Amino acid sequence: MTTEEIMAGAELYLMNTYARQPLALMRGTGCRVYDPEGSEYIDFVSGVAVDVLGHCSGEVTEAIIAQAARLVHVSNLYHTEPQVQLAKILVEYSFADKVFFCNSGAEANETAIKLTRQYATQTHGADRYEIIAMENSFHGRTMAAITATGQARFHTGIGPLLPGIVHIPFNDVAAAKNAVTENTAGILLEPIQGEGGVVIAERKFLHEIRDLCDRSGSLLIFDEVQTGIGRTGHFFAYEHDGVIPDIMTLAKGLGGGVPVGACLAIEKVARAFSPGMHGCTLGGNPLVCSAARAVLNKLLEDGLLDRCREIGQYFEKKLYGLKERFGCIQEVRGRGLLLGLALSIEGTHIVDICRKQGVLINCTSGRVLRFMPPLTISQNDIDRLIEVLAGAFQKA
Ligand SMILES: Cc1ncc(COP(=O)(O)O)c(C=O)c1O
Repeated sequence: MTTEEIMAGAELYLMNTYARQPLALMRGTGCRVYDPEGSEYIDFVSGVAVDVLGHCSGEVTEAIIAQAARLVHVSNLYHTEPQVQLAKILVEYSFADKVFFCNSGAEANETAIKLTRQYATQTHGADRYEIIAMENSFHGRTMAAITATGQARFHTGIGPLLPGIVHIPFNDVAAAKNAVTENTAGILLEPIQGEGGVVIAERKFLHEIRDLCDRSGSLLIFDEVQTGIGRTGHFFAYEHDGVIPDIMTLAKGLGGGVPVGACLAIEKVARAFSPGMHGCTLGGNPLVCSAARAVLNKLLEDGLLDRCREIGQYFEKKLYGLKERFGCIQEVRGRGLLLGLALSIEGTHIVDICRKQGVLINCTSGRVLRFMPPLTISQNDIDRLIEVLAGAFQKA
C-alpha cells in the first residue's frame, strides 16, 4: 500500500483518537524508519520512548522468532520460564522483591493503585484509600490511570472519575505536607513528567515525599513507564536521587516494542495481593517476556547505560547551543536521552519542518519539543537533528 492508501484506510476504518502525522511507516532498522515510498527518517521518537535498542535489533528479533516457534501464549494458570527469568532480572537490578506483568503502562498503574489500596486497607483499615497524585502528570488512559493523570484536558466528557484521587502541584513540598491525611494510602509521581513537558522532580521534593510516606505509613509509587529501562542513563530514574519507592511501574522500553508492562513492589506490599485479586490474560506471556529479557540483557551487558549518559550529555550541550542562538527556546530540560526544549512558540510547526527534512521529533504539552531516541543514537544523528532544528527555528 502507498502512504496515501494507508491514510485513506485509517480514515475509513480507525477510530479518530490520534492526531497522526501525514506519514506511514513501513520498516525500520537501528535509528532509521522508512515510509512505503522508501523515504528515510531519523527517529528521535522511538515509539514514544519504547524502542530503546532501535528498530529490529538483532537480539530482540531473534528472541521473538525463537520464542514464537516454541510457545507464544499460555494462561497465567501455569508457570512459564521466560516470565520467571524476566522477573528475576527486574528484581535483581531494582529495589523490588516481586513483579506483576501486564500489557501496558496504564495497566501497570491500575495495578499499582489497586495494590496500594489493598495494602493500605489490610494494614491500616478501609479508610486509607486516598492516592495523592501530581498536577501535570500523565499515567495512562484507563479510568484509574486517567483520574490520576493531573491534566484536566484528559478528563472532559468521561466523568464521573474514580473517587479518592487528589492532585497537588508537582515539586511543592508544602502542598504535599498539607495533602497527607489519615486517609492517605499512597503518593504517585513520575521522576520526570514526560508527557507533561519533560519536568524533573526536584531532589529535595523526592526526599521530602519519601519522608512523608514513611511518617504516615503511606506508600511511595513511582511511575517509571517512560523514565525506566535506561532512558535517563540509569536502569531506573529513581537511582539519580537515591529515593527508593515502594512500588514502581514500567512499560514502554521494557519490551523494546512488544506490549509488556510491569508493576514491581517490595515484599511486604506485594504480599497484599493473593490469588484472584488481580490478573491479566496476556500479561507476561512467553513471547513478550522473551523479547523483554533480550532487551534487558543487551541493556545491562553492552555498557548502554554509560553510553546513554555520555551521549545524553553531548545532546544536551548541543541543545544549550541552540538555546543561545534562538530566543524562542526558553529552557533545556531532561536527563540522559529524555530531553526537552521548552519554547515560547507552538512546537507542532517545528515538528512538521523536521519531518519534511527527514527527522522525527515529538511535541508535548503544546510548546515542549521532546527527544527520546533509541539509546543507540549516534553523535552524527544528533548533529543532523541540531542542524535541522536550527533551520526550523530560523524559519519559525
Ligand atoms: C509516565 C507514563 N505513565 C503511563 C503511561 C501510559 O502508558 P500506556 O500508553 O502504555 O498505557 C505513559 C504513556 O505515555 C507515561 O508516559
